[in-house]
Amino acid sequence: MIPLRPRPPTGLGAAAIGPEEEAAVLDVLRRRELFRYYGNDPAHPPQVTATLEREVCERFGVPFALAVSSGTAALEIALGAAGIGPGDEVIVPAWSWISCFTSIVRCGARPVLAEIDGSLCLDPQEIVRLHSPRTKAVVVVHFQGAAADMLAIEHLAHRRGLFVIEDCAEAPGATFKGRRVGTWSDAAIFSFQHNKPMTAGEGGLVVTRDLRLYERAVRLHDLGLYRAHHSTITPACEPAFAGGQYRMSELTAAVALAQLRKLDTIRDHCRSLKARIAPRIQALPGLELRPLADPEGDFGFEIYFYTRTPEQSAAFRQKLDALNVWCQQRTGTYPQYRRDYVKTGLAANPRLSPFRDLSPWPAPGYRSEDFPRTEDYSSRFVALPLGWRTTLEDADYIASCVEHVYHQIDAR
Ligand SMILES: Cc1ncc(COP(=O)(O)O)c(C=O)c1O
Repeated sequence: MIPLRPRPPTGLGAAAIGPEEEAAVLDVLRRRELFRYYGNDPAHPPQVTATLEREVCERFGVPFALAVSSGTAALEIALGAAGIGPGDEVIVPAWSWISCFTSIVRCGARPVLAEIDGSLCLDPQEIVRLHSPRTKAVVVVHFQGAAADMLAIEHLAHRRGLFVIEDCAEAPGATFKGRRVGTWSDAAIFSFQHNKPMTAGEGGLVVTRDLRLYERAVRLHDLGLYRAHHSTITPACEPAFAGGQYRMSELTAAVALAQLRKLDTIRDHCRSLKARIAPRIQALPGLELRPLADPEGDFGFEIYFYTRTPEQSAAFRQKLDALNVWCQQRTGTYPQYRRDYVKTGLAANPRLSPFRDLSPWPAPGYRSEDFPRTEDYSSRFVALPLGWRTTLEDADYIASCVEHVYHQIDAR
């Protein structure tokens, strides 16, 4: 028997909240300037959101960053800024977060679901299989800390004239071939929701190298306006159009900025935990670590391994849980075709649904039987979440528990 330890703590950015976030929020409150575009002195608007955007640009090496109200808003803004709309198709992995699908529907475009590969990210070859004359864009999700194969994706997508959006909500701070995720594509989005590596409870970000896209994103997030602050970054040259209201407040930006400055430290800690556990899993024949496009670039906050059968992975989860080791199967992600909004195929108004002409519904491409590889991978993995407060001793305990259960259930 293995001596039982308490369940190791998890949590990423939220677990690292400390005096820096407190001081930053108090500063905004004490100045009584909560709105980013004007405060007490019209000549000197508050600067926290602007500083967050500037530091993102500096750290990521991108010219334009726009803070917004959530990662979902950022997706809708990036798609809208790229001009995606009715009649267009957007390729998106079937294994992805809710808003990767719904943001496309809300632009009026049709999400085209793609298979994942063993990395649990988009299989690049799906761009070849699913591309049609209506395809305008690809949404790439860097799933749970690790990058998709951006070299292959960029090559295949750009040869076909497709716009590429990196969804970095689950992988800020991760890199691919030494370059940060979010810098490989035409536009990228981030989320600061509570569970994320850097958090402000809610919040998001759009980054891009394209000044026209930046201006359109600004207009989309602020009622169609392009205020003076943004003109100092790049002058307006796009016509005004009707936008939404997805601005970030100075309070949110204060927390996000403090967290941005901690992001790489949290990542390095997670990587050191992963380095203790992964080689011990790799040494167990019959188990396969999630094969990553760039293992070096993984943020490292969740270790995935595959068993040979779904039954083995279920047995692993049950026995690891009994040993106080966290091991979720899904971490919030389900195949899109299992979600209710795909089963109904509806938009808020049925006339806005991009599926309204497809009958019977669910049509091919939106049913579980159309995704044998996604079904296979998602039924055989075990996920081990790690976090900012997970210690090296916890990591050793997790690895010992995996070895213990492996022998118990004979997972060779
Ligand atoms: C891959 C991915 N994209 C987008 C989002 C949406 O972010 P938010 O919750 O900030 O709207 C999430 C959040 O969980 C996510 O995991």
